Formats: sequence, C-alpha cells, structure tokens
Amino acid sequence: MMKWFSDWWDGGVPVVEQAGARDAARLAQLHGASFHRGWGEGEFEVMLTERNTLVDRLRSGRKVIGFAVSRMAADEAEILSLAIDTAQRGRGLSRNLLMTHLGHLAGRGVRTIFLEVEENNQPARRLYEWAGFGVIGRRERYYQQAGGEQLNALLMRRDLS
Ligand SMILES: CC(C)(COP(=O)(O)OP(=O)(O)OC[C@H]1O[C@@H](n2cnc3c(N)ncnc32)[C@H](O)[C@@H]1OP(=O)(O)O)[C@@H](O)C(=O)NCCC(=O)NCCS
Repeated sequence: MMKWFSDWWDGGVPVVEQAGARDAARLAQLHGASFHRGWGEGEFEVMLTERNTLVDRLRSGRKVIGFAVSRMAADEAEILSLAIDTAQRGRGLSRNLLMTHLGHLAGRGVRTIFLEVEENNQPARRLYEWAGFGVIGRRERYYQQAGGEQLNALLMRRDLS
C-alpha cells in the first residue's frame, strides 16, 4: 500500500486484541499521556510476559490508540489501567475496549472484577457505570496529585455471569 494512503486510512473500525511484547513502548507512551504517574516501557514489558496479567490493545489500522490492563487471581480480576489516546477521546471507543476486555477476562475464568476510579473522573465513571459496575466503597484522599492535592477513590465491582 502507498505510504501516504496507509497513513491517511486508519483501517476502519478499531479492533481490540491481546497486546504483545512489541507494544511496550507505545503503551508506556499512552499511559504517560493519561496518568500522573506513568508506567515505563520496562514495566509494560514485564506485565506483557506475566501469566496473571492481561493486556489488551485497541488498534486502528496500524496505530495503537488505547489499552486495558488487568491482573487476575483465581476467579477475580482487577482492572489496573485503561486509557484512550487523548486525540481519540469522546468517540465512545472505550466501550468496545472495555467490553471486549471483560469478555477476554471471562474467557480466562474470571467471575468478579474490581477497579478503583478517582471520584471526579467523570468520563471513566460514566464508562464503568454504563458497563454495569457498581460502587462498593470509597477511599478518602487515596490519590496524591503532583500539586499535593489529595483525591478520593471509588471502589467498583461487577460480576460476570
Ligand atoms: C476514561 C476514558 C478511557 C474514556 O474514553 P473515551 O473513549 O473518551 O470515552 P467515551 O467517549 O466512551 O466517553 C465516556 C463517557 O464519558 C463522558 N464524558 C466524556 N468527556 C467528559 C467530560 N469531560 N465530562 C463529563 N463526562 C464526559 C461521555 O459523554 C461518555 O458518557 P456517556 O456514554 O454517558 O455519554 C478516557 O477519557 C481516558 O483515557 N482517560 C484517561 C485515563 C483514565 O482516566 N482512565 C480510567 C481510569 S483507569
């Protein structure tokens, strides 16, 4: 394919698939753009090889534009991180990413999923509520911001049937 064409054409509907070792650098870049304490390439390299960690990527053509990371223990899992490229937000792409990720977890025998979300993170709360997660707890001043501000966390849970 002509390079100008493949750069322009994003490949249509983004797909969610398991990430591999070669995604570590791009995932670290996406994570760093989304979170105050970014995970480095080395941290992703380790997670991508751990058997109890599931890393899915959202790919549009040749570009990785999002990811979801969960850690599994017996029939429970915790979503550790999920993000969409800043330039691709607000298009509903996170829904496909999250629902497919939950399906992959179910395929590994996971029955219950937990996550923590910052109380004021409206896009993330909307997403998780839409996906059937319910609030089961609240942790005061759980997150420490760069400027010293402390933010509350909500603990959410969803059972997979
Ligand atoms: C959370 C995140 C993954 C959502 O991805 P996205 O593809 O942009 O999400 P969507 O377009 O599906 O929007 C999700 C919901 O948030 C709402 N939303 C978007 N921006 C918003 C804003 N600034 N304020 C309030 N709600 C907002 C949308 O309307 C939508 O709700 P709706 O379905 O009821 O209309 C993305 O914002 C992100 O990567 N954030 C940084 C990382 C993060 O916070 N991850 C979650 C914690 S692990």
